[in-house]
Amino acid sequence: MDSQYFIGFFLLFINVALVSAEINGSVLKMKRGTSSVQFDPTRVTQLSRHPRAFIYEGFLSNEECDHLIVLAKDKLEKSMVVDNESGQSTESEVRTSSGMFLDIAQDKVVADIEERISIWTFLPVENGESLQILHYEYGQKYEPHFDYFYDKVNLELAGHRIATVLMYLSDVESGGETVFPNSEGKLSHSKDESWSDCAKRGYAVKPRKGDALLFFSLHPNATTDPSSLHGSCPVIRGEKWSATKWIHVQSFANSGSHTGDCVDENENCPAWAIAGECERNPIYMVGSEEYYGYCRKSCRVCS
Ligand SMILES: *[C@@H]1O[C@H](CO)[C@@H](O)[C@H](O)[C@H]1NC(C)=O
Ligand SMILES: *[C@@H]1O[C@H](CO)[C@@H](O)[C@H](O)[C@H]1NC(C)=O
Ligand SMILES: *[C@@H]1O[C@H](CO)[C@@H](O)[C@H](O)[C@H]1NC(C)=O
Repeated sequence: MDSQYFIGFFLLFINVALVSAEINGSVLKMKRGTSSVQFDPTRVTQLSRHPRAFIYEGFLSNEECDHLIVLAKDKLEKSMVVDNESGQSTESEVRTSSGMFLDIAQDKVVADIEERISIWTFLPVENGESLQILHYEYGQKYEPHFDYFYDKVNLELAGHRIATVLMYLSDVESGGETVFPNSEGKLSHSKDESWSDCAKRGYAVKPRKGDALLFFSLHPNATTDPSSLHGSCPVIRGEKWSATKWIHVQSFANSGSHTGDCVDENENCPAWAIAGECERNPIYMVGSEEYYGYCRKSCRVCS
């Protein structure tokens, strides 16, 4: 054998060996994780290219799912939609669920999930809106819609929503699927009787407790992607709980809500500071070059 070929083979062999060593577990580590759930990219499956969509099985533990529901349960209100022109929240028949927003990093569990989302998506924590928890009862739904904006007000705040992570907090006996009616895979996705008629109108994902769906609403060239049209099918049996993280192209945390005054932005800041979080969790608490800290007053970095 020609020696050049031999070296070629040899290098190829080394390459294969290196790759298989690297995919044994994630090389991406959480900075300050306290959760029992480790980030594990081997549980991610690519679902569709148009839109770019991925499912992560078991992204949340059962305990995390239950915890998010408990945080939301007593605070649910009728869900709103963003008005196309004014950018204001408004009630609409296209969305019949009830829901509420948590605070960013409201507690350790929430902060941990937000960090895990950032590791998975490669999008900064501060570009995310706070988690929205949604509850759908029998017949409740969200008609297909886009997560990107049409109005100037929201666009100027932190730019478009580039991606959405939708986490299922409960199993649903029947219905409640997430459907993408414009997806290219809608015809090739065969579905048996366990899917609702609504789900059959597009590529669809069944809600399964702990799973997380990630999809992008913008193309790589930053134009809006109409194939990201998606909806929540009506619940037929059981109930549906989900948590949504909308992620913007720019920092949402820094988008106008900060006055520069020396204040805490979470009522738990004093307690967290006493517990040593200013040192343990400095980026969230104190801030960094890009990120405005939430507990600057309690951490005594301003006056
Ligand atoms: C791969 O992961 C398994 C299970 O965690 C571990 O036992 C094994 O030693 C790892 N192998 C390498 C080459 O890191
Ligand atoms: C918002 O505007 C888009 C684009 O013009 C349109 O397709 C959509 O139906 C509108 N949605 C609502 C709720 O008015
Ligand atoms: C952006 O990318 C999309 C998808 O590849 C393409 O259809 C569209 O024409 C592009 N738009 C611009 C302005 O480049």
